[in-house]
Amino acid sequence: MPVAAKAQHCDVIVLGAGGAGLMCAGVAGARGRSVVLLDHAEAPGKKILISGGGRCNFTNIGASPENYLSRNGHFARSALTRYTPADFIARVDQGNIAWHEKTLGQLFCDGSARQIVEMLVGDCTRAGVRLITGASITDIAHADGQFRVTSGKGAWSAPSLVLATGGPSIPKMGATGFAYDIARQFGLRIVTPRPALVPLTLGADEALFTSLSGVASTVVARTDNTAFREAALFTHKGLSGPAILQVSSYWRDGTPVTIDFCPDRPAGWLQHMKRTHGRSRITPLLAEALPTRLAETLAERLTEEKLRERELANWPDGALATSEERLRNWHFRPTGTQGYAKAEVTAGGIDTVDLSSRTMEARNVPGLYCIGEAVDVTGWLGGYNFQWAWASGWAAAQAV
Ligand code: FDA
Repeated sequence: MPVAAKAQHCDVIVLGAGGAGLMCAGVAGARGRSVVLLDHAEAPGKKILISGGGRCNFTNIGASPENYLSRNGHFARSALTRYTPADFIARVDQGNIAWHEKTLGQLFCDGSARQIVEMLVGDCTRAGVRLITGASITDIAHADGQFRVTSGKGAWSAPSLVLATGGPSIPKMGATGFAYDIARQFGLRIVTPRPALVPLTLGADEALFTSLSGVASTVVARTDNTAFREAALFTHKGLSGPAILQVSSYWRDGTPVTIDFCPDRPAGWLQHMKRTHGRSRITPLLAEALPTRLAETLAERLTEEKLRERELANWPDGALATSEERLRNWHFRPTGTQGYAKAEVTAGGIDTVDLSSRTMEARNVPGLYCIGEAVDVTGWLGGYNFQWAWASGWAAAQAV
C-alpha cells in the first residue's frame, strides 16, 4: 500500500485563488494565520483579469442584499454590511488604483483589472500566504479536527478549510463544480445550479428578431415580477445585452420575457401622435424612438400592411391602443440560455441553510467554510458579484 505523503501543517487551507479566495487568504494571513492558498490554474485571479472588459467592475456603490438572488434572501446581509463597497474602495485607493463610475453605481479601474489582481496577490504576499498554483486537488479528508488536502504539489493539513473554487460558469477558463462535490462530501446541500447573467436563445418562430443581430435599444425587460431598465441587444442566437443578462438570472424555462420597447414614451403616446402628427406612418414614427431595423421589424409584426401604409390620422384609436400595448409588453418565449459557456455567473450552489451567515462556516462541519460564487448567493450584473466575493471572503477570514 502506498504511504501517503507527509502533510505540512498550517492554520488555514484556502482552495481557489479567485476574488473570494485571495481576499480571504490575505486577510486571514494579516490576522496572523499561516495560510496556504491552492489553485489548479497556472495563475491566480483569472476571472478578475477578464472581468469588466479587462477593467474589472470591482464593486457597486449601491450593493445591498436586494441585489442578490438566493433561496434565503437575508443570508448575504451580514457579510455585505460588515465589509462594504466603501471598504473595498478604501483598499483600492490605498493601492493608488485609479477608478471611475461608469453607470448605475458600477466602479471600474481606469487602467487594468490586473491592478486588482496584483493588489490582492500583494496583500497575500505581505501576509506570508503561500500561494501555490497548478495544484490539482486529488483528495480531501477530515479526521480529528484536521482537514488534509492532497494535491499534485504536496499535502497540507489544517483545522480550517475554505472552499472558494467558484461555480462552473466559463469552463474553458478552468471553472468547475468542484466546490459542490466537496460540499456534498461533507453533507452540505446544493441548490440546483444554473447559468445566470447569460444570453437567452430564441426559436424559429422568433427568428425574425435574430436577423437584427447587433441592434441594441434601451428597454425595460421583465420576468418573474422583476424588471430591469438597461440596453437589450439582439444576437444571431437570440437576446443579450445588460437588460437581458439581468433578467436571465430570474428567468425559468418555459416562461416569457416581456420587453417594453418604448420606456421613455408617455402612456397613450401613439394616440397622442395621431392628434399631433396625423400625417405620420407607424414605421417612421417608431424609428424616432428605436433603431430603424428594430422599428421596421416591430411594425411588421404589429399590424398588417394595409394599416402600416395608412397615416396615423386614419388609424382607429383602438388599433393604436393595441399596438402600444404590444410595444410595451412584447412577449418573447426564449427556448433556453447559452449555458455555462457564456454565463458570467452560476446561480444556486451550496445551500445557505447549512452555513453561518456571519462566518460562512458549515453548521455541522466545524472548520469548513464556503465563500464566493460557490455559495447560493448570486449578484446582479454591475460589480455585485465581486462585492460578494470580497465580503464573504472577509467574513470567513475573521473566523478562521
Ligand atoms: P472564481 O471563479 O473567480 O475563482 C475560483 C478559483 O478556483 C479559480 O481561480 C479556479 O481556477 C479555482 N478552481 C476551480 N476549480 C478548482 C479545482 N478543482 N481545484 C483547484 N482550484 C480550482 N463580477 C463582477 O462583480 N464584476 C465584473 O466586472 C464581472 N465580470 C465578469 C466577466 C466575465 C467574463 C465572467 C465570467 C464573470 C464576471 N464577473 C464579474 C463575475 C465574477 O468574475 C465572479 O462572480 C467572481 O470571480 C467569483 O469569485 P470566486 O472567487 O468565488 O470564484
